[in-house]
Amino acid sequence: MNNKRAQWGSKLGFILAAAGSAVGLGNIWKFPGKAYEGGGGAFLLIYLAIVLLLGIPVMISELSIGRASQSNVVDSFRKLGYRGFSWVGWFGAIVAFLITCYYSHVGGWVLRYVFSYITQPQAVYADPTGYFYGLLGYDAATGATFFPWTAILFAAIFMALNAVIIIRGVESGIERFNKIGMPALFIILLILLVRAVTLPGSEEGLRYMLSFDWSKVNFHTVLVALGQAFYSLSLGMAIMITYGSYLSKDENIERNSVIICITDTMVAMIAGFIVIPAVFATLGADGVGKGGGFAFASLAGVFRQMPGGVFFGILFYLLLLFAALTSCISLIEGVVAFLTERFHWQRKPTTIIACSVMFLIGCVYTCSQAAFDIKGVWFDLANGVSFPIFGDAMEFLTDRLMIPLGALGCCIFVGWIWKPESAIAEIEQNGIKFGLAKPFRFLVRFFAPISIFVILVASLVFGTTLS
Ligand code: TRP
Repeated sequence: MNNKRAQWGSKLGFILAAAGSAVGLGNIWKFPGKAYEGGGGAFLLIYLAIVLLLGIPVMISELSIGRASQSNVVDSFRKLGYRGFSWVGWFGAIVAFLITCYYSHVGGWVLRYVFSYITQPQAVYADPTGYFYGLLGYDAATGATFFPWTAILFAAIFMALNAVIIIRGVESGIERFNKIGMPALFIILLILLVRAVTLPGSEEGLRYMLSFDWSKVNFHTVLVALGQAFYSLSLGMAIMITYGSYLSKDENIERNSVIICITDTMVAMIAGFIVIPAVFATLGADGVGKGGGFAFASLAGVFRQMPGGVFFGILFYLLLLFAALTSCISLIEGVVAFLTERFHWQRKPTTIIACSVMFLIGCVYTCSQAAFDIKGVWFDLANGVSFPIFGDAMEFLTDRLMIPLGALGCCIFVGWIWKPESAIAEIEQNGIKFGLAKPFRFLVRFFAPISIFVILVASLVFGTTLS
């Protein structure tokens, strides 16, 4: 085994980095909209059950595979002696690659909004929706589309920021960054939560988030919750296996997994309880339903109508920026760790080339919002559909197909091939006790693989898939 392999510098460093990977745009940009569409409280319950019964066991599995194999996603399965499962690792690297393409661009939009709120809040306030559309290359007043160079420029800056941090390596770059970013994020979130739930008129949104409208729930909702949960927890192969491989043998994997899952889920819930009540309070029920646009168009309307709005606006987008950076770093790290170890490429050029390629592909995402003028795309966005075609297809492919499949592969691998006993032995080293070993064994062998399979198949058969 490779003794020179990088390791986390401290216990806290690992938890912060893993939680930093998990907490991202998924929690704040995606989750509130999905919770709204999925019926509020009903969706929250389903989501919680999925995190508890599927998320935690898969998290434990991935970290164990990574630490046991001490290697990148693709080689880890081979190193443990099962070449046939390498596809699960390839899947992970591909998912990380695909997600990074659009993730870096949304990160760029966030960066743009930080600057917008600092330099020209009045322009955002004057027409929140129009401003957001304008960023993406659509002039709402004239109906003209143009090349969204501002969004592209900021995406490039965002990606460059990531590359610099990645090049500096695991300990000095990622870890140090997370040590500051994560606690800052929590503090800002709590301030915003208090602000949002005390806005007059927010009760209706709160009530919605706590109501159980089961009529909106079907297999498709459950698959959305499943994809969202794994996405939010950064499960889907590449990342947690990679991060686990940097983990020292006297770390408690069980406890770490539980902490990461709880932290991530809390942030998503808090974000839901910030965004939905705040949107209800200021825009009424009509303002809800913009999904991905929430974090940009709708919330701008919110800050405008709240005392100290500019200040809270800056805070909010800084928070989103931190969250997006720490996650994007982990996604890129998944790709880079694989490429460098697998092909023996050097870290620096690999990072630069990989980031450039992903940035360029991502340009299609930003541009397809308007400038390419794909028929129907803009029309849909104007009607409140959050993801135009490219984004929809991407989300379907990654969140709803590849991530659940990757998690399924992981459960089958740990449950039946490598065996839960090996994972348990990996966890119980240096006198550490794995208290949840029994339920883990059952969940990873039977419950998790069967339910993921059933949810996937049922929703592909019965549900609409591209929305
Ligand atoms: N969890 C991150 C978020 O919620 C996104 C993310 C980072 C991710 N790494 C991942 C998703 C790996 C899937 C797989 O924004």
